[in-house]
Amino acid sequence: MTMWKPDLTRFGGHPAEALAEAIADAIASGALPPGTRMPTHRELAYELGLAVATVSKAYSIVARRNLVSGEVGRGTFVASGPRMPALADPEAEAANTIDLRICMPPAVGQDVVLAAAIEDVVRAGGARAMLRYPLPGGSPQQRGAAVTWLERLFPQTNASEVLLTSGAHQAIAVAIATVVGTGNVMLCDPLTYAGTAQLANVMGIILRAVPVDEHGMIPAALEEAIARHSPKALFIVPTFQNPMAFTIPQSRREELTAVAQRHNIMIIEDSVYADILDAPPKPFAALDPDRTVLLTSMSKSVCVALRVGMIRLPRALVAQAENILQSLVLANPPLMAEVAANLITTGRADDLRHKVLAEVEARFRIARTALGNIPFIGGAQCPHLWVPLADQNQMSEVSSGLARQGYWVASGRDFAIAREHVPAGVRIALGATAHRHKIAELCQALRQHISAPVPAMSGVV
Ligand SMILES: Cc1ncc(COP(=O)(O)O)c(C=O)c1O
Repeated sequence: MTMWKPDLTRFGGHPAEALAEAIADAIASGALPPGTRMPTHRELAYELGLAVATVSKAYSIVARRNLVSGEVGRGTFVASGPRMPALADPEAEAANTIDLRICMPPAVGQDVVLAAAIEDVVRAGGARAMLRYPLPGGSPQQRGAAVTWLERLFPQTNASEVLLTSGAHQAIAVAIATVVGTGNVMLCDPLTYAGTAQLANVMGIILRAVPVDEHGMIPAALEEAIARHSPKALFIVPTFQNPMAFTIPQSRREELTAVAQRHNIMIIEDSVYADILDAPPKPFAALDPDRTVLLTSMSKSVCVALRVGMIRLPRALVAQAENILQSLVLANPPLMAEVAANLITTGRADDLRHKVLAEVEARFRIARTALGNIPFIGGAQCPHLWVPLADQNQMSEVSSGLARQGYWVASGRDFAIAREHVPAGVRIALGATAHRHKIAELCQALRQHISAPVPAMSGVV
């Protein structure tokens, strides 16, 4: 087999970053399929006329983005299956970069409030809960607190229908194991939370995308996809969708529910971003409670590392879901559920949520001003913005151009569940930095990249 040899002139900039982008581009286009063994650093350096250190640097950039993995003594391989975007690099804030790739609430003093809640829990004898195995879905008191938290999203919730999970990610795992099952199809948006694709991959669930417009999934396209794929369920993030930031309007929610009812498929409704709102839009769960599994967490509205999520199921599915949760994890550590219950019942969680919301609103105004006339999707209370781009080429150019300057954003590629029909755009996570001015700086750089004039033709055709 001839060795893969990229054309670096398409990417420009520092050779290591250009090579990293060329590798990412080849993986996204399928030129380097999953499992491919990459050339050694030395071979590629020789082929491209680069220093070995430059190739090593490029490989470490793509490894940090989880695009390849190294196996000592065996070489470097293109990662197989869908990939989670790299999680926040703790050094990134300190270094000369601005990394707005991870959706998380901005820091508004969560550490101090959490410390106080942990102390309260321990002082009240919370450590006694460590003496025996906890109930898999949380104690009755913890479930009661979860019902209080869910009040804004779905007021009809009853504690007997709710399980606590370790974040929304685990809630998604439980939901898809309960209503989809190995070997079956689940429909979702063409770009969606990368963790859902990751879970589907490890659980043997087939994901198929349904086209979206600016209001979310298109009902006629959903009909067509159901006819073609006979899915068991639909996974949907109806408010502040990740990554495309749209919110499905009420009438579209009703139309999509009607399609699901006609074809008797379940709806998995992920509300992690609605969780920040005082008055979220009416959920799918309210339109058809027996068909909808509603899940959320406190990750995006309070604090990502609390790792407390909640899942509300139709009553007939609760025992099965509880059994699945127990099979997966036996039981989650009770301490954080206890801390979450304390935060909720004392009102401290709501205080933090309000502070997070106010900070998101302030950052939104900064981003809107800095983006100027560049169109984007996302509203004043949405913790991320989606900037649509013309096509895949522009998406590659903009994200690699930004990365060369030390600005990191997530791009459509990071969320695509299939290689075809990837909506082009980049996502800016407003909470990912401790410094508001960095939002302005990155948005101004993005604006410059997007409005840069097309280079004049050289006259050579
Ligand atoms: C749509 C969506 N669902 C679920 C999750 C996972 O959330 P958690 O941190 O609560 O596990 C994320 C995280 O980015 C997300 O974007």
